[in-house]
Amino acid sequence: MTSWLDFWGGTHSIYVNARHLDVHCAKIGDDVRALLTYRNAPRLLDFGCGDALYAPRLAEAGIRVALYDGAAPVRARLAEHLADQPNITVLSETDWRNLAPGKQDVILVNSVLQYLDTATLDALLDRWRDLLAPGGEILFADLIHPETGLVADVLDLLVPAAKNGFFWAALAGLFATLVSDYRRLRATLGLARYRPEDFLARLARHGLAGERLPANIGLNAHRMTFRAKRA
Ligand SMILES: C[S@@+](CC[C@H](N)C(=O)[O-])C[C@H]1O[C@@H](n2cnc3c(N)ncnc32)[C@H](O)[C@@H]1O
Repeated sequence: MTSWLDFWGGTHSIYVNARHLDVHCAKIGDDVRALLTYRNAPRLLDFGCGDALYAPRLAEAGIRVALYDGAAPVRARLAEHLADQPNITVLSETDWRNLAPGKQDVILVNSVLQYLDTATLDALLDRWRDLLAPGGEILFADLIHPETGLVADVLDLLVPAAKNGFFWAALAGLFATLVSDYRRLRATLGLARYRPEDFLARLARHGLAGERLPANIGLNAHRMTFRAKRA
């Protein structure tokens, strides 16, 4: 396995059990809904959506969700599980390539930027900007600060685990991660990390005005969320 896309397209145990995945998805769904209450039936493109088990929670709130993931096996699972749900569309690779500019009220990019190299991110920033409808926004979530170390990552797993009844599974999951492909790829490919000021400057170079939000979307309290609009 040589790329993060291969990793996410394969079978992995990043979520230590079903309870962890449920809690993760519920928190993302609730946080995104809370950030968008001021919008009426927005069109939301979820880029790098993974299995997106939170999508029905967004759809129930009237959000019109389009799901896209770069890993073909993930898209196949999405088509199987979510394609027939009201307010949810699963995009193929061709659909993503052919999306019309200027139509998305919200683009959600949650826990994806750490897996992108700089050239890919720069190209995507232009694409996402062009897809935004007037007044539209991009939510970039789960960004890792360069000074966030292993201890913060461990706490971000174990604290919610203790609160939600999967502490021992999380501890076992941590040890499993030590010998996993995730650990190996993290050591070889690394994870992209951003200082807030550098990330905001990068957005500005792509015609986007950004702000850091007070709290991250999802369970990783040490990570960062930014909201960006066309400058
Ligand atoms: C950590 S998962 C996040 C999934 C989901 N956003 C969530 O918060 O639960 C990262 C996802 O990003 C997708 N991804 C990584 N690189 C990508 C790329 N270049 N284009 C599209 N999707 C990508 C992966 O396939 C994976 O599903």
